[in-house]
Amino acid sequence: MEPSQEKVPGTSYRRDTTTTHQAATGQFGRIMLFAGSSCEALSKEIAQELGIPMGQHERLTFPNENIFIKLKESVRGQDVYLVQSMVTPLHDNIMEMLIMIDALKRDSAGRINLVVPYMAYTRSDKKDQPRVPITARLMANMIEIAGADRYVTIDLHAGQIQGFFNIPGDALTAFHLLSDYMLEKDIQDLTVASADLGFAKKARNWAEKLGAPLVVVEKRRLFNSKDAEALTVIGERELIEGRSVLLVDDEVLTGGTIVKAVEALRERGAKDIYLAFTHALLKDTAFERLGGLGLKEIITTNTIPTPPEKVLPNMKVLSSAPLLAEVILRAHEGRSVGELFGE
Ligand code: R5P
Repeated sequence: MEPSQEKVPGTSYRRDTTTTHQAATGQFGRIMLFAGSSCEALSKEIAQELGIPMGQHERLTFPNENIFIKLKESVRGQDVYLVQSMVTPLHDNIMEMLIMIDALKRDSAGRINLVVPYMAYTRSDKKDQPRVPITARLMANMIEIAGADRYVTIDLHAGQIQGFFNIPGDALTAFHLLSDYMLEKDIQDLTVASADLGFAKKARNWAEKLGAPLVVVEKRRLFNSKDAEALTVIGERELIEGRSVLLVDDEVLTGGTIVKAVEALRERGAKDIYLAFTHALLKDTAFERLGGLGLKEIITTNTIPTPPEKVLPNMKVLSSAPLLAEVILRAHEGRSVGELFGE
């Protein structure tokens, strides 16, 4: 049979579809996949990609709000993957995740891999003012103490958060997934705009990949206010005026940052504005805010589930399932993950 090669979305890797690895039993037993409450649809997609059934468990909440988990099948000696994003209801989902890890550990799983497409509490990663916590470190400690052996995540707020973990992990990025989609549009007059100074380095990767110039919207948060303020745009006006602009960021929460950035770009004469970001947290009135901005297209991923009825007509949600499935398979078989990205 002629070998058939298929690109794994979100990577530069072409998978040989004539061979199958799914049945392989690795050093830690077979792959078993469990879904936390926040990631049922994404987990099913990953399971389909891997050609395996979903692991079964039941979850109860007692009247005192305590969460109870019971695995409905044995995980003894197996390579277990638990998928849970840290999204609303945030604290329930975090507790559920930790309790599930504990249940897996006490049932003697061979290895516990936590797949957290979106990791919360990572914005606080340093003491940048007196008398504040470092919640990113706390989160890493809780995951380790609960019993996870490895973690997989996508677009951590800052790469150095990996250093808070003592267990190995794969800190992935949705950059390839999102940027490949934009590349296919082949927009000739495109400028990339970082929505935030902190994202400028990553936005530079976007600009290089798309062969576009880069501008940066400089935003300053006043005290600990949740409302962002875009102050200025760093970059020549002619890089924006009459041109298509792709605004990039890692996450959108209230939409405040994006609203200000779009205003600043429109003031400078931007023509069509596209928006790309990994994590669609989209709280409060963010959907309405984004919907009212007249953006050409909004491109995001399913690291956080967006209810179908909330997906805006100009919104494209790309699935991270093929990428996560390939990474799970490689972790299971002890193959390189860097190879997926030509590294
Ligand atoms: C900030 O550091 C992030 O990159 C995002 O710009 C921010 O989280 C977006 O939040 P919001 O949508 O509430 O302005």
